[in-house]
Amino acid sequence: MSHSAHSMNNADRNTASTVKTANTNGNDKDAGINYMTDSSPIVVGEIAPGCKKRDPIVVAENVRRSFGGINAVDVDYLEIPRHKITALIGPNGAGKTTLFNLLTGFDTPNSGKWQFEGKNIEGVSSFKLARMGMVRTFQLTKVMGKLTVMENMRLGAANQPGERLSKALFKGIWGGREKEITAQADVLLEKFKLDVKKDDYAASLSGGQRKLLEMARSLMVRPKLVMLDEPMAGVNPALTQSLLDHIKNLKAEGMTVLFVEHDMNMVRHIADWVVVMAEGKIVAEGPPRDVMKDPAVIDAYLGAHHDVDLGDTEGIKELEAVLEADEESVVGTENAGIIAVESVVPDLKGADLKQPDLSPEALQEPGDDEPNSPQSGLAEPGRTDKDKE
Ligand SMILES: Nc1ncnc2c1ncn2[C@@H]1O[C@H](COP(=O)(O)OP(=O)(O)OP(=O)(O)O)[C@@H](O)[C@H]1O
Ligand SMILES: [Mg+2]
Repeated sequence: MSHSAHSMNNADRNTASTVKTANTNGNDKDAGINYMTDSSPIVVGEIAPGCKKRDPIVVAENVRRSFGGINAVDVDYLEIPRHKITALIGPNGAGKTTLFNLLTGFDTPNSGKWQFEGKNIEGVSSFKLARMGMVRTFQLTKVMGKLTVMENMRLGAANQPGERLSKALFKGIWGGREKEITAQADVLLEKFKLDVKKDDYAASLSGGQRKLLEMARSLMVRPKLVMLDEPMAGVNPALTQSLLDHIKNLKAEGMTVLFVEHDMNMVRHIADWVVVMAEGKIVAEGPPRDVMKDPAVIDAYLGAHHDVDLGDTEGIKELEAVLEADEESVVGTENAGIIAVESVVPDLKGADLKQPDLSPEALQEPGDDEPNSPQSGLAEPGRTDKDKE
């Protein structure tokens, strides 16, 4: 019997059955529902940009962010349906990444409010949001090259209640949680076929493996909402299917997924719902098949200079051709996905990783993390394909 007085809550139970919950839906209240076959309606009322969802996990209202004169994000209203896979699509520069940054606390809007699970979360830090169950991955993959794969996973666990970021990096100072964290990381690494790499430096991984590691790491907090910014970009086609399966599994396990993607095939295959952005605004929403026929979507991608017959499949083909070209251009924007540990854990700057600074200052959460800003130690290969395995 533990001397701890509190009764066993959900978090404890999840922890106690780490291996099991990493495999199955850890969301007790929803146990028994098959999210893959659940066909209850997503929308309440009419389908239109900003339409109400039956069961939203995220609600965003009047969220705006401008850079200079550009309204990067100008969203009147958006709800993300729970337990579904939602694709956020739109041409380059539409504001998809900026919206991700705003929702996940990596950037501050000029105005707006938004909720996660019914709680107002504007101004809440990305680290707190992760603890609340909202995690994201980056278009420019962020794994720490100078840390091993397992250490990267531990860093993910640092977002769990009671854990401190710096603590995550060092063996032996975890107390009772170390074994559980390691077991949970082992299960996830095996699932993502990174178990054989667990003692390798993340720098040695291929671009696709880094994407997998980033995803696996985000799952260490047992999130409710997983937001993926271009999970497929720069990934070798050999890994594509496995990534698709991983994303579908997230839903099967009761998580909600919101992902940005340019690959329409992928969107069609796995998305239950599609939200289309253009010039910062939500211009269309709907099930994948319908949304691609939406004049607003074709407009957004083709611009004003098109004469597409929206009623015929040629229009769709033309759109797909544009999207494919778009996708190719995106691959080149991927960097090597390596960042220096100090750039994410500023407290560790200059610290000897073997003898960590465990002063209260060093154990504090890091401050703002500039999204997609040039990071020290960030390899920038430019527009090449070398990120592909
Ligand atoms: N930090 C920044 N400073 C200035 N402008 C920015 C910044 N971040 C984004 N922008 C601008 O905001 C707009 C939206 O950019 P964002 O990266 O959100 O688009 P996106 O939809 O993710 O595009 P892509 O598909 O190319 O990733 C663009 O015009 C971009 O140039
Ligand atoms: Mg982007």
